[in-house]
Amino acid sequence: MRRSQIVGCGSYLPERIVTNDELAKRVDTSDEWIAERTGIRQRHVAAEGEFTSHLATRAAERALAAANLPISDLDLIVLATATPDETFPATATRVQQALGMTRGAAFDVGAVCSGFIYAMAVADNFLKCGQAKTALVIGAETFSRILDWTDRSTCVLFGDGAGAVVLRAGEGVGDSTDRGILTTKIHSDGRHHDLLFANGGPSTTQTAGVVKMEGRKVFKHAIEKLTEVVGESLAEVGLPASAIDWLVPHQANRRIIDGAAQKLALPPERVVITVDRHANTSAASVPLALAEAVGDGRIRPGHLVLMEAMGSGFTWGAALARM
Ligand code: ACO
Repeated sequence: MRRSQIVGCGSYLPERIVTNDELAKRVDTSDEWIAERTGIRQRHVAAEGEFTSHLATRAAERALAAANLPISDLDLIVLATATPDETFPATATRVQQALGMTRGAAFDVGAVCSGFIYAMAVADNFLKCGQAKTALVIGAETFSRILDWTDRSTCVLFGDGAGAVVLRAGEGVGDSTDRGILTTKIHSDGRHHDLLFANGGPSTTQTAGVVKMEGRKVFKHAIEKLTEVVGESLAEVGLPASAIDWLVPHQANRRIIDGAAQKLALPPERVVITVDRHANTSAASVPLALAEAVGDGRIRPGHLVLMEAMGSGFTWGAALARM
């Protein structure tokens, strides 16, 4: 049975850190309010002239180095972003060029905060059906560029960053103890568009727009949808929630993460948290958290890792992988 194995992880965060206290000088907010409602203490913000493709390329280089694979092995780049460098071409082709990859295919996937799970699902299916052997899956964002920095209800929540994984097709027995992605599940429901969107775009306003959100309503949907999709994933592979070694959730809000972990009866020490330092980096948040926990040795070979995310669209999904 063919499985997509995670053979390398990498991440990159822009140098500049913006603390809650710094934001409190710009809008009517406080470190206390932001930390209590979201768990966020600081976020990284891209420098002038530093684009999504730059962050993505740095993360990709680190993932390839961890995988110990040459660029020439890559067949596919799938990049998840809601903040592309340009309207076209795909930011993935910018990364392809920067890496010096001259064959294969590179394209973007748009599912906002669920983007990395969607990109994993796409790449996993390419590998499983034999259309590619080695894929780079990237989540990269510069949300700082589409925030209304005068709107305290949204500007405190997001940050910039990128994370990447290298997937390689491997043959194995194919049961749940076998290394690789065991399942991916993705969903969307366009009826919830108005609860979270950017109020611009090339076809409508010819500008990128800024984030608009009804936070309280998004919050209510998040735990419900995440619980559903996690249940669906576990049921498919026939494993109980107690088999999960690590939950690597989308890092939108500490309260959403804790709520989802509680539903799974997972203790806090088995949940990877970066939201305090990175804030919500949209499609980058899951691979950033994964790379951190693999890099510091918490996630080890053989561990069962559950990744999940929910975001604008609404979109939501989960990926279950044996490392
Ligand atoms: N500082 C101080 N006060 C604020 C701030 C701020 N930064 N932002 C809003 N407030 C005020 C509001 O104006 C409101 O004041 P009022 O009562 O005088 O009208 C009050 O705080 C309460 O506002 P709510 O929006 O009801 O606050 P809530 O407790 O719901 O917290 C939050 C807001 C943190 C956005 C929460 O709803 C949330 O986390 N929602 C999830 C949204 C999310 O994470 N989205 C990310 C993308 S989707 C995803 O990734 C899952």
